[in-house]
Amino acid sequence: MSRTPVNVTVTGGAGQIGYALLFRIASGQLLGPDVPVNLRLLEITPALPAAQGTAMELNDGAFPLLGSVDITDDPNVAFDGTNVALLVGARPRTKGMERGDLLEANGGIFKPQGKAINDHAADDIKVLVVGNPANTNALIAQAAAPDVPAERFTAMTRLDHNRALSQLSAKTGTPVSEIRRLTIWGNHSATQYPDIFHAEVAGKNAAATVNDETWLADDFIPTVAKRGAAIIEARGASSAASAASAAIDHVHTWVNGTAAGDWTSMGIPSDGSYGVPEGLISSFPVTCSGGSYEIVQGLEVNDFSRARIDASVKELAEEREAVRALGLI
Ligand code: NAD
Ligand code: LMR
Repeated sequence: MSRTPVNVTVTGGAGQIGYALLFRIASGQLLGPDVPVNLRLLEITPALPAAQGTAMELNDGAFPLLGSVDITDDPNVAFDGTNVALLVGARPRTKGMERGDLLEANGGIFKPQGKAINDHAADDIKVLVVGNPANTNALIAQAAAPDVPAERFTAMTRLDHNRALSQLSAKTGTPVSEIRRLTIWGNHSATQYPDIFHAEVAGKNAAATVNDETWLADDFIPTVAKRGAAIIEARGASSAASAASAAIDHVHTWVNGTAAGDWTSMGIPSDGSYGVPEGLISSFPVTCSGGSYEIVQGLEVNDFSRARIDASVKELAEEREAVRALGLI
């Protein structure tokens, strides 16, 4: 293999998303079928044996693209020379925990990881935060990495995007491959806004094709926004394979680009576009090319969409205030 391997660090590698994610990375689905990878797994000390087990299985996969698998509980080691960081490990909300407690607990994870990325990662580092609350965890990590360009820190709303594609596909009887230009705005939470007003289904405007505002407001939007909770209810555990798949999609699109005429959704630092306060990590419609992304500009935002985008952005602003008050950013 003549290409230089790409160093990919996955945090929470012994968790359920990690288990669904690592084998796909090793098989070349994250970066491409001709790109060798070195994997680093960052775990907390008690989970290192489980991570070892996953590493044994990765070796047993005999993946031609997999150069090495290293395991550590030290962020400074895990992010040394890292090109792509997938921050999956997070503190789940447990009984009796308030949202503020969750933000504080995750601050203890994402602040040191952001600093380690700042101090040790490769110059071309790209970061995807999956661990919840993903947008605000990304903000915490970014704030701890002042030497890394802010736009390299992103949060995952691709799962929401994919869920919206699937729901719209089922409603219209159109394959997902014929749906384009769908957008998730705002936070990866129940306030997110999946927007079909600019989407196209088989080349026709999606909202006009559906022509059913009741379905849109009372079925589509809540189904997509509350899908994570519905999966937890059904599986007894939060989404894992679909979350891993969306993480693969997010990084693959970021690195390899969006298809002509289409866009995707990514949680990224706002530049003030569409009235989203600068600096908030909010989901936008973006195109990707040459390893970077741009917000799609000039979309008309109707009153229906405006109210919903504003509500989700308000929640993001409140989360930012909460972590600021905790001294995390
Ligand atoms: P999990 O509990 O199965 O695994 C999490 C792993 O992270 C565990 O192995 C744990 O030991 C590890 N971990 C905890 N703290 C760590 C630290 N400081 N450093 C390194 N590793 C650490 O959880 P999961 O199902 O894999 O989910 C992971 C996260 O992803 C959760 O926060 C979940 O809510 C979130 N999630 C996000 C999306 C999204 O769309 N953004 C979708 C699904 C799940
Ligand atoms: C999801 O969207 O499936 C997850 O973010 C749900 C969760 O709370 O872990």
